[in-house]
Amino acid sequence: MGRFMEALVLASAISVIVLQFPSGVVGNSKREVGVSVVLEWTDLHDWLLCSDVRQVAGPGVEIVGALAGQIHLLDRFTSFNFTSRSSCTTESAVVAYASHRILSHYYPWAIDKFIDPLLNRHITTLKLSTSQSLLGQRIGEAVADEVASKRTTAKPFSLRAVKSTLTAASPHPTPGLYRYLNASAAGQDAMNFVLHNAALSNTFLLKDPLEFIKNHILGDVRPPKVPSPEFDRDWKALKDIGRIDWPGRTLIMNLTADFYGCQRVNSSTCSIDGKMHKVMKAILPPKATVAETVTLLAKLSVAIFDTGVVLDTLQYGFWFWRPVMAFRSGDAQHAAIPSWTPYAFTPPHPEFPSGTVINVAAAVRILELHFGDDVGAFSVPGSGVNLPSCGTAGLPEPTFNYTSLADVVHTAQLARMYAGAHWNSSVEAAAVAGRRVGEWIHEHWAQRTPTGVLPDSKYLKVVAKLPNKAGEWSPIRFESIQLK
Ligand SMILES: *[C@@H]1O[C@H](CO)[C@@H](O)[C@H](O)[C@H]1NC(C)=O
Ligand SMILES: *[C@@H]1O[C@H](CO)[C@@H](O)[C@H](O)[C@H]1NC(C)=O
Ligand SMILES: *[C@@H]1O[C@H](CO)[C@@H](O)[C@H](O)[C@H]1NC(C)=O
Ligand SMILES: *[C@@H]1O[C@H](CO)[C@@H](O)[C@H](O)[C@H]1NC(C)=O
Ligand SMILES: *[C@@H]1O[C@H](CO)[C@@H](O)[C@H](O)[C@H]1NC(C)=O
Ligand SMILES: *[C@@H]1O[C@H](CO)[C@@H](O)[C@H](O)[C@H]1NC(C)=O
Repeated sequence: MGRFMEALVLASAISVIVLQFPSGVVGNSKREVGVSVVLEWTDLHDWLLCSDVRQVAGPGVEIVGALAGQIHLLDRFTSFNFTSRSSCTTESAVVAYASHRILSHYYPWAIDKFIDPLLNRHITTLKLSTSQSLLGQRIGEAVADEVASKRTTAKPFSLRAVKSTLTAASPHPTPGLYRYLNASAAGQDAMNFVLHNAALSNTFLLKDPLEFIKNHILGDVRPPKVPSPEFDRDWKALKDIGRIDWPGRTLIMNLTADFYGCQRVNSSTCSIDGKMHKVMKAILPPKATVAETVTLLAKLSVAIFDTGVVLDTLQYGFWFWRPVMAFRSGDAQHAAIPSWTPYAFTPPHPEFPSGTVINVAAAVRILELHFGDDVGAFSVPGSGVNLPSCGTAGLPEPTFNYTSLADVVHTAQLARMYAGAHWNSSVEAAAVAGRRVGEWIHEHWAQRTPTGVLPDSKYLKVVAKLPNKAGEWSPIRFESIQLK
């Protein structure tokens, strides 16, 4: 999936990352101050995720998940009941303190330089009174700590068992099936196989990923047989546009492939979440409220996280082969092309469906269901400069001009093909599957206590009341509420 892939690229490039978080968020000035507070914590989170030396693969997902859960809970209790003086200011203070706590928990190295200063700025900006600040801190930190302590990692797994299965496949290689990669080979082939444990993680909202896949995906979403007319179409569609040395490659094809396929300096869009946050900000109306903003952010994060679990369950279930494997080894219908080299880095795990596209499609569906299909054309400004490992090294990330939300998905589909990493049927299937997860998340939002770790129903109603006078004691209480 895109997030992991880019994290792997990041690991080799970290020495050139310059730690310089832009303070103050351009373009948020016309918004309600509380909305800006929410967006600025999201920006800091996206940026820290891109800048953290240690966040290779797993931890990044945990952080995204934890932050999502926290915002999710905040949404619940701000829209349920505060018996204290409820106001946008208090809501925003809770968001600020909870975000501060979560980020401090995951990025201790950044507390002094980045995380504390943002909180201090928000306390000033929001003109918090001492009691509002204290209330925000008590509630925000209580919820954040609970989220962090409950957020479990994946179940244990054995890479050795998976490796021996891949190596033992007979005949070897089997056309259409992924194969074990040679870690001592040269260049792009020198990759260690990666088993993403997201397939074994707890979802936020999907009750049972296997059931979801059986009921909503497997009916019409499968990779083609090899050989078959369908696979032949995939093969022909990718043979040129996916390879590094096709003379017809244009600059915009390269930049589009690199947007999802490689890493930048000074960027906060190394994850799908970060990219989708920028899309959301481009279409979020100036009159958006704090509740609307946190709900959307929470839905996006939950949709992307749960989609990741579905994705890995599919990829490590179909074990479909990558284009580079197929072109180089050939099959009954196609002669081998040993020199075929993809434009960009091919993630070292099975192919079907495309992780980038399924995540983007789920997030875009959430946005479409909120804003409507017809938001009109919009632009998402680029940020950061492409690293030496990118085909477009040294060029800035371009501004993408989208005709619609659907165009965001379409562009991601093209990006993964231009990178030479995915087949056309795989990106098309990913768009369908991601859309279905997004719809499911939207439909089941706030309707019942979700399975997985969050939210704990005891937090669905937070009762916080300031004492009437000094000396009285009024602890925060969490009351369960029944959801249908
Ligand atoms: C909030 O709680 C108070 C006291 O429990 C109750 O009187 C009020 O109706 C509740 N408001 C909402 C919107 O649920
Ligand atoms: C792996 O790559 C190395 C270096 O290119 C090569 O010598 C070796 O034969 C390869 N092993 C397999 C199993 O292909
Ligand atoms: C992918 O396939 C669809 C039809 O299934 C087709 O419309 C589209 O042009 C193909 N994309 C590419 C880049 O070949
Ligand atoms: C696109 O990238 C390829 C591979 O790096 C390069 O050879 C080609 O010149 C690039 N095309 C343009 C128009 O920049
Ligand atoms: C990254 O940002 C810093 C601070 O603004 C700047 O000094 C540096 O040149 C930037 N790096 C690149 C590669 O643009
Ligand atoms: C988007 O539009 C801007 C302004 O017209 C242009 O500079 C930029 O190149 C366009 N982006 C792409 C990816 O075509």
